Amino acid sequence: MSYQKELEASKNNPEEFWREKSNTLEWFEPAGQVLSEDEHGIHHWFADAQMNTCHMALDYHVNNGRGEQTALIYDSPVTSTERSYTYRQLRDEVAKVAGMLKAQGVEKGDRVIIYMPMIPEAAMAMLACARLGAIHSVVFGGFAASELAVRINDAKPKLIISASCGIEIQRVVEYKPLLNAAIDLAEHKVEGCIIYQREQAEAALIEGRDVDWKNTVEMVEPAECTPVRGDDLLYILYTSGTTGKPKGVVRENAGHAVAMKYSMKAIYDMDPGDVFFSASDVGWVVGHSYIVYAPLLQGCTTVFYEGKPIMTPDAGAFWRVIEQYQVKALFTAPTAYRAIKKEDPNGELIKKYNLSSLKYLFAAGERLDPPTYEWLSAHFTVPVIDHWWQTETGWAISANMAGVELMPVKPGSSTVPAPGFDVHILDDNGEELPAGVQGNISVKLPMPPSSLTNIWGDLERFKSGYLETFPGFYVSGDGGYIDEEGYLFVMGRTDDVINVSGHRLSTGEMEEIVGKHDAVAECAVVGRSDELKGQMPLGFVVLKAGVEADVEGIKQDLVQMVREKIGAVACYKESLIVERLPKTRSGKILRKTMRQIVDGESYVMPSTIDDPAILDEIKDKINER
Ligand code: COA
Ligand code: AMP
Repeated sequence: MSYQKELEASKNNPEEFWREKSNTLEWFEPAGQVLSEDEHGIHHWFADAQMNTCHMALDYHVNNGRGEQTALIYDSPVTSTERSYTYRQLRDEVAKVAGMLKAQGVEKGDRVIIYMPMIPEAAMAMLACARLGAIHSVVFGGFAASELAVRINDAKPKLIISASCGIEIQRVVEYKPLLNAAIDLAEHKVEGCIIYQREQAEAALIEGRDVDWKNTVEMVEPAECTPVRGDDLLYILYTSGTTGKPKGVVRENAGHAVAMKYSMKAIYDMDPGDVFFSASDVGWVVGHSYIVYAPLLQGCTTVFYEGKPIMTPDAGAFWRVIEQYQVKALFTAPTAYRAIKKEDPNGELIKKYNLSSLKYLFAAGERLDPPTYEWLSAHFTVPVIDHWWQTETGWAISANMAGVELMPVKPGSSTVPAPGFDVHILDDNGEELPAGVQGNISVKLPMPPSSLTNIWGDLERFKSGYLETFPGFYVSGDGGYIDEEGYLFVMGRTDDVINVSGHRLSTGEMEEIVGKHDAVAECAVVGRSDELKGQMPLGFVVLKAGVEADVEGIKQDLVQMVREKIGAVACYKESLIVERLPKTRSGKILRKTMRQIVDGESYVMPSTIDDPAILDEIKDKINER
């Protein structure tokens, strides 16, 4: 089937299109109505179906002849561990973990926070929640205690599942002190914690609150799958918005399962039995969708990798995994490819391995910059595919649809809209822009299955953030253009969200933290381009009048404060002390202009600027760096 035909089918009759796709999954009861609209005007897919995502991902395969196939390979160069689970073994482990959660009082609709490193127990915990109809919320292990506390307060979990530690190359990161601090900080009080003890750092358990995973899991009855409605929530995943408060993106069971299953073939060209390697982290949406759910729903083998693209032990790490497990497709962030390219510019380590199983290289998380694309294309004969997506959608909005029809690549473009997404470029007044002109990338409603249907507990934020800017459209927050041939070029965020090493972060949140320093009067944090990490935050800081303190000391404090409040992943390392910040006459900080100046881009002097001379001061500061 050609891409155009598939796209047209999805636009002409979306309900028929998605009904047909949903038939490849096993439902307890299929939906009576494929697409419905609730009293708030929000669309839901397969809302009245009866189903269970864990059943579809595990039990279905065990019952249909795939029980002895490998479901998950755990490969951990940081602990020298290689272990695999068949579908039957994984189903049985997950049933036990679900039994353990049930014994701790977890029921359908309860929230469970999962704060874990890249160990298979993290996937088991997610699937166990799905099995019970509980809603998981995975918090990335690199986040600091206060980030975890914010999520505890918002999601109000009954239980937290964690591990004693994670491993960052050589460094053991103890999770338990962070978990304890977060629980102390949070107003919402959890009923208990389940802790998976790792030998690299045993955690002290708090009696009456913490239970030991390994001791408990063997003593419980395995749990069966609880039927849920299609519009019941599978998970909440927090992502950065423009303010300090993260947004709890909610994902419904049915739409998610259908989109995952469809995308696994249509976008990634993966058939049951194929091996998929998504080198990300379960803390991010890529990890949810393409390390855990989609490969399993499709009956593939997923590689669960606890390591880095480089240094574990070298820049050949991914190629070793591909050869060892006969991986068909690798999916990682451009920053990971750039890190490999930097360490191994001539691709010597690529040549060391037999990569004949590899058919595709995928990249997402940020734009695949043309030099990295060219480097990959020079060293591999397989298609190198950039695809654009967001936590909000759970799968790619645009891609080169490998399982439908591969199109010629245009470096810098994420190719074409995925069927289901009716993408338009709108100006700031909501008017459609012609081909080649940059504007707000928007999607005509209804959004396809899997897209968020709310922000957890904050319908107003959902509506105002995504649906009300341009009525009838979802506004993505990304800017870009579509060329004459329908190719989409995503050029960057239109808001104050930045992307550091493929990690989505809020500069607004960093500003709130920096602004709390006693010596700081005000500040603006913007993202500056970085060759390796894509972007890095840069703070412009105005000190309070009369502050005589040691400026270097203040800068160090700020680094430490952001590290403590958000985590090392924020990579806040640089502050420039300035006299004033450029603002409009109404007092709005001109962050976009500052960012353009930092990156040496041309900019239009904002007509509303209060004092244009401040921009010269900013330029001088940047030149002095
Ligand atoms: N737990 C604790 N700390 C973590 C962490 C985790 N899960 N992940 C990262 N960190 C820490 C790192 O140790 C580092 O700490 P440091 O400042 O003390 O050195 C800091 O956060 C920054 O990490 P990172 O941005 O990952 O940089 P790096 O220099 O350690 O590694 C890369 C560079 C390119 C190898 C790495 O960024 C990478 O693998 N990126 C891929 C990202 C990805 O998959 N994103 C998912 C989106 S699809
Ligand atoms: P996240 O929600 O963490 O997946 O981050 C989503 C954001 O990352 C998007 O809104 C984009 O700004 C950026 N992004 C992800 N993939 C791409 C891509 N292929 N091209 C350009 N930007 C991307």
